[in-house]
Formats: sequence, structure tokens, C-alpha cells
Amino acid sequence: MATAVFPGSFDPVTIGHMDLIKRALAIFDKLVIGVLANSAKNPFFTEEERVYMLKELTKDIPGTEVIQFNGLLVDFVKETKADAVIRGIRNSIDFEYELPLAQANYKLDYKADTIFLATLPEHSYISSSAVRELVRYKGDIKGFVPDVVYQFIVQKFDYMI
Ligand code: PNS
Repeated sequence: MATAVFPGSFDPVTIGHMDLIKRALAIFDKLVIGVLANSAKNPFFTEEERVYMLKELTKDIPGTEVIQFNGLLVDFVKETKADAVIRGIRNSIDFEYELPLAQANYKLDYKADTIFLATLPEHSYISSSAVRELVRYKGDIKGFVPDVVYQFIVQKFDYMI
């Protein structure tokens, strides 16, 4: 059974992430979604909230598991006995950032080899940081995040546009 890890901060989960999860499962039998716990000093969402939202979003997607992790990705890949890492590439900036990370991870452990999935063109402008900025300035985040995340943002930040 082939397993991949899909790591990220998921602060918050976007519809781009959700598309990558579904497409990764067309290649792998199992996908462990690894939520980096301490991704930023002031995350928008706590690690518990990010894990909760991802669990809600994937509860009906067979083959998924959501686990938080700290430390190195290669160690998490080892712990989960995964065969590969999945990362999404939206543009050349992502590629420039991701390539050396993927190469370093491969050097540290060949089992942490990275498979890049090209995001859908209609998702290329979507990012968690754009969502955070929109929430701060009351921009419209519909079309950026799944409904579970939208509802969470409405409650937590008294967000309404
Ligand atoms: O969603 P993000 O913030 O782009 O995800 C980045 C992530 C979690 C994939 C990356 O920061 C990561 O792998 N962090 C764990 C620490 C690590 O292994 N760093 C690489 C050292 S070569």
C-alpha cells in the first residue's frame, strides 16, 4: 500500500489544498496530512483548530489521516512509514522555494522524495496568506476556502462582509 505525506501549515486550509488532497489520493492509497504545529509565532489558527478543520473536511474522503507534527519533515515521513511527500506548485516562485527543500529532504532520506502536483490554473492565486490578509481587511474569502473553514472564520473573527 503506497502512502504519501501532504505536509503544510494549513493556516487555514484552502480549496487549493482540498483539490491537491483529492488528486494525491488518485495516485496513493493513503494520504497522511501532516499539520506543522509551530508554523508561525502568531498563527491565525491554533494547531488544534487546524487539525479539527482538516479532520472535518476529510472525514468522508477514504484513505486520509490528519496528524500534527513538529520538527523535521523527514522524521515525520519515517514515523508514518510514508513512501513520498506531496507538494503543490502554483508558479515559478513556489518551484524555486520547493526544489531545494525537496532536494534536501531527499538527501536526508530517499523515502522523503517529493512529488510536485501542479495546482489547477484557477487556484493559482489562492494561498493561506491571501486568505489571512483578506480576513484582516474584510475582503471576500468565498471561493478561497471550503465552507467549513468559512464558517470557522465567521465565528472566530466575527467576520462578515
Ligand atoms: O504550508 P507551508 O507553510 O508552505 O508548509 C511548509 C512545510 C511544513 C512543508 C515546511 O516548512 C516543512 O517541511 N517544515 C518542517 C521542517 C523541515 O523539515 N524543514 C526542511 C529542512 S531541509
